Amino acid sequence: MSADDEKRIAAEAAAELVEDGMTVGLGTGSTVAHLLPAIAARGLSGIRCVATSVATEEQARGLGIPVEEFSALERLDIAIDGTDQVTPDGWLIKGGGGAHLREKIVAAAAERFVVISDSSKPVDALTGPVPLELFAFGLRSTLARLGPEVELRDVPRSPDDGAIADHRGEIDDPAALATRLEADPGVAAHGLFPPDMVSELLVGAGGAVTRSTFS
Ligand code: A5P
Repeated sequence: MSADDEKRIAAEAAAELVEDGMTVGLGTGSTVAHLLPAIAARGLSGIRCVATSVATEEQARGLGIPVEEFSALERLDIAIDGTDQVTPDGWLIKGGGGAHLREKIVAAAAERFVVISDSSKPVDALTGPVPLELFAFGLRSTLARLGPEVELRDVPRSPDDGAIADHRGEIDDPAALATRLEADPGVAAHGLFPPDMVSELLVGAGGAVTRSTFS
């Protein structure tokens, strides 16, 4: 089975977790691109969705999935998203597509955060880079403070006007690195998602979907 088919079966399994009337956070990326048609095909009624990127919002609307601004909703019943890496204890690296700030806000608002992936994403230990979103205000000073391990990515600014960058240093201790990055006032978000944020992991592998639960 191809990686794309593994993404599809994981996404289809996650779509089954969405029920009528739920508030739903929609992630970003090629795995979520399979999730949206699977949700649309269920013909659910009364769901209210928020999207973590313009690409997801456009695809969802094109499929008839209602998407609204994430300003009226206080919490989400479920959020479903892909990942770049996931460790056995549930640490993620996200942000390969630069959407990690909104993805983290949506994941944090969700009662249940479900991660979907193909079999290439589980890893024994995280390896960099760790995506960052840096505030535009004071950007040069932030980069100077963060040092040579952080490089700007040659991509457009985020929808929140943040600059996308990557931390290319070693990840000996994800929690310690997360704390260090969060201590810098110029860092809007980093792509390390802790295990206590992740409820469930669905991995398509071969022809089957394996499930792990975390928090
Ligand atoms: C977007 O910024 C990322 O966090 C994606 O969710 C992550 O890179 C997974 O993407 P794929 O589903 O395309 O592998």
